[in-house]
Amino acid sequence: MVSLPDMSRRISELDGVRPEDLGGDIFSHLLSTHDSHSGERLNAEEIQSECQLLSVAGKSRAQPPRVDRNSSFLPCEGFDTVSSASCATIFYLAHYPHAHTRLVNEIRIKFPSSADIEPGEKLKGCEYLNACIDESLRISPPFCTFAPREVEEGGENIDGNLIPEGYAVGASVYAIQRSPEYFPQPNVYLAEPWLTTKDSSPHSAFVPFSMGPRACIGRLMAISELQTTIALFVWTFDFKLADGDHEV
Ligand code: HEM
Repeated sequence: MVSLPDMSRRISELDGVRPEDLGGDIFSHLLSTHDSHSGERLNAEEIQSECQLLSVAGKSRAQPPRVDRNSSFLPCEGFDTVSSASCATIFYLAHYPHAHTRLVNEIRIKFPSSADIEPGEKLKGCEYLNACIDESLRISPPFCTFAPREVEEGGENIDGNLIPEGYAVGASVYAIQRSPEYFPQPNVYLAEPWLTTKDSSPHSAFVPFSMGPRACIGRLMAISELQTTIALFVWTFDFKLADGDHEV
């Protein structure tokens, strides 16, 4: 653990130091980043706050006892987000060999060595990988319940029902993404529909990161982690279900 005064001292020693000289990891970037206009660095408290955000986003924690107006405190905290999504993807690939084979081909052809697999444009361009990740986030959303919102003064008419003020409302991500209204085969893992244009259904009912002003701010980082993890996993390991273990 580094104390705030100690961190302040270290920050003041960083003039001219490049992130790669500090190790080049995400914390070295936080330490060395500065405002391009004023030249100011993040102070120790701001760095601590950024670190807390990064470290809690995927950890288990009970939901807060009350819901603040139109927000909830770090809503994705109650869920192991990226790890759940990684496990779900591997689970479904093991159960759907056709998807597994197609993904292995894409990754092993694009990346001659596992050392070439790193976050960036090449991974972003792996269409079938992205389709597999989206389908996992659809069929097993890590944030599976709902993001509560408090009804404001005067109540709210939602779909013909008057909800009194002070009540928490929300729509379950799991229920939306498993609805046959939007997904013709809601309980089947199908990556192929995600290869079509982003404007078409089923994309309109795909909300694993929620939507609106309080949607997940870690979405791009989560996707990048998932792309790297899944690509490395399928490049490195051949895997299949144990005999007799075929229930989805
Ligand atoms: C697969 C991975 C993830 C999923 C499915 C996910 C999902 C969500 C969802 C559904 C919300 C609620 C938004 C709302 O209330 O409408 C949320 C909020 C949030 N997420 Fe994530 N998340 C993931 C990963 C991450 C990561 C890696 C980070 C940080 C590095 C992160 C940081 C946050 C923060 C800070 C909020 C609160 C935003 C706000 O209230 O303004 N999430 N996330």
